[in-house]
Amino acid sequence: MKILVTGGSGFIGTNLVRYLLSMPGITIFNVDKLVFPGSGYTNKDLEETAGDAYRFSPTDICNGQEMQEIMNEFLPDAVMHLAAESHVDRSIQHPGSFIQSNIFGTYELLENTRNYWLTLPDKNKQSFRFLHVSTDEVYGSLDSGEPAFREDNPYRPNSPYSASKAGSDHLARAWHHTYGLPVLISNCSNNYGPYQFPEKLIPLMILKAVKGETLPVYGDGTNVRDWLYVRDHVTALHQILEQGKAGECYNIGGNCELSNNEVVDILCKILDELLPESKFIPHSQLIEYVPDRPGHDQRYSMDTSYINKSLGWSPSHSFEQALKDTVKWYLDNFDWCEKVMENTYSGERLGLI
Ligand SMILES: NC(=O)c1ccc[n+]([C@@H]2O[C@H](COP(=O)([O-])OP(=O)(O)OC[C@H]3O[C@@H](n4cnc5c(N)ncnc54)[C@H](O)[C@@H]3O)[C@@H](O)[C@H]2O)c1
Repeated sequence: MKILVTGGSGFIGTNLVRYLLSMPGITIFNVDKLVFPGSGYTNKDLEETAGDAYRFSPTDICNGQEMQEIMNEFLPDAVMHLAAESHVDRSIQHPGSFIQSNIFGTYELLENTRNYWLTLPDKNKQSFRFLHVSTDEVYGSLDSGEPAFREDNPYRPNSPYSASKAGSDHLARAWHHTYGLPVLISNCSNNYGPYQFPEKLIPLMILKAVKGETLPVYGDGTNVRDWLYVRDHVTALHQILEQGKAGECYNIGGNCELSNNEVVDILCKILDELLPESKFIPHSQLIEYVPDRPGHDQRYSMDTSYINKSLGWSPSHSFEQALKDTVKWYLDNFDWCEKVMENTYSGERLGLI
């Protein structure tokens, strides 16, 4: 099976590509414009070891002509679309690039895919799939006690990031209903795990704690997210691609709601255990409350009963064990962190207006 993956040099993308390449008979073409140039380092090992099973082009999905050439030459059986500007804080400061990549880029990709799909013989047309990977943030914010998001919840995005993802979800849906393109949509909660760019909460806290820098928690730290280990997310994506019904949306989540305070507390305890010689023990002494993110959503929660009942998927990793594995991965891969952050990011606060 030939799969065109967009955003395959990013956090979830590289975990997905690695998982797919571990299966027999899958060939990947990764298109990623490398928003952070250092992330070109992430898949260097695959370029050297995966042989013909892995190809890469640093193309922007907004470049319709180049994307069409890639599709016509690679002849994919499926597209898994992960390329996006992904950090809420950056979207507050620079919304324009989010509109461009997430909305216009998705539109271009849908059109390129449709043009290519129309050239396929009927049998391949039917089996072809376009999986659009999205977020729980499109549903807006919940108060404590409100029921978890279901696939039929109305969209109420609050940040420029979530609004741009909501726009791209609507386009993907429309390309199925209007043109018959076999589109699947997944909406997933907060991921953590190896290869996440160190501007996001968990890797940022790990890197800062190791250096003895303060651990900035936004607002009062009571904001709740549902946490999912990235390796569970990629198995869900693969299962949706293989068994999902065209035109359907699937919520993916970890059934693991935690406040930022709880996440950072658990993280500090893991660091205390893994770094017994550290002069910063207890690492929780480094926590500092900083001004809140503008428009910060209070709570996300995912009802995953549909994917569970229809595809039999559920997460298989526990938060504490998978978080410990994640911390170990970062402690063992400081060189990766330095290379991907080079000339791009050095841990500063983002997203204040
Ligand atoms: N991280 C999460 O917790 C989470 C949760 C749910 C959904 N998602 C979605 O999953 C996808 C991947 O997220 P991630 O966390 O891996 O983000 P990421 O920022 O680590 O990776 C995104 C990748 O897309 C690439 N990209 C951005 N714009 C592009 C363009 N115009 N053309 C080509 N490539 C481009 C970037 O270079 C980057 O490598 C996104 O669509 C995101 O909205 C993420």
